[in-house]
Amino acid sequence: MKKDSHIHWYPGHIAKAERQLKEKLNLCDVVIEVLDARIPYSSMYNNIETLLGGKPRLILLNKSDLTDRHELNLFIDSIKQSSNSPVLVTDAKNSKDLAPIVKKVLELAEPRIQAQMAKGLLRRPARVMVVGMPNVGKSSIINKLTKSSKTKIGAKAGVTRQQQWVRINKDLDLLDTPGIIPMRQDDQEAATKLAFVNSVSENAYDNQLVAQDLLNILSSKYEPNLKEYYKTETLDLLSIANSRNWIKSNAEPDIERTASLVLKDFRDGKMGRFILDEIKN
Ligand code: G4P
Repeated sequence: MKKDSHIHWYPGHIAKAERQLKEKLNLCDVVIEVLDARIPYSSMYNNIETLLGGKPRLILLNKSDLTDRHELNLFIDSIKQSSNSPVLVTDAKNSKDLAPIVKKVLELAEPRIQAQMAKGLLRRPARVMVVGMPNVGKSSIINKLTKSSKTKIGAKAGVTRQQQWVRINKDLDLLDTPGIIPMRQDDQEAATKLAFVNSVSENAYDNQLVAQDLLNILSSKYEPNLKEYYKTETLDLLSIANSRNWIKSNAEPDIERTASLVLKDFRDGKMGRFILDEIKN
């Protein structure tokens, strides 16, 4: 077994993903960057500003229903300041009204539209696309914005389809396929957190090591919640397997099944509402 929960990455994939993203970005006035609110910094692409080349971006802290809203509020100002971009909190799974997103995007696009009109061009709808790491909720947001069932919802990254613009209203067109930001490779801590939220292919890591890492990080901040949830005194996979009496036919505790349970419980928000990044000042 591997000694640490190292997340494997593939430089060729990253270069290709960046290239594809750049082609789409060239077509847009504004970009919506979707982050997972449980790991706001770890799900932000460190190269995004270079990639955008000065284009305005709106940041969405999505999956806010899986976080403590009070704790999340503390992140908003810090992210606004460090990114110099507006930030909205969203829950694309349950919310019906994403109108504040449209309003903010139009505000951000207006200077570019005005600049073109000043050159004598006719007014045209602003163009926006949604970008983010896998599984942060990009397709769900596109679906809600387009109010149609055209966009397939799923956790699989990298599904390419023909690009198509969808008219949201007379002033706004949305690219119907999201831009997938490749996993960051330089920061193993961030990569491990991305594995917690199912943003990394399962082939890139060892389930048991990542699940134990999750328990360690959660217990440093939320120990009482976790002990209460798993009804164990020690927060490790072995204790949880034993407390559930999950024993394999060879009489060994079923650690793999327990690891899958812990990751699923966290991803489904069953253990509680958590934020795993620390605020940067
Ligand atoms: P992606 O395009 O960025 O890869 O993400 P996608 O929209 O496919 O969403 C990935 C998963 O996250 C989906 O769950 C989706 O329902 C869920 N999701 C998206 N936004 C939110 C949110 O704000 N809160 C919560 N709790 N979940 C969200 P799934 O398990 O793949 O499908 P299902 O849950 O819809 O059955």
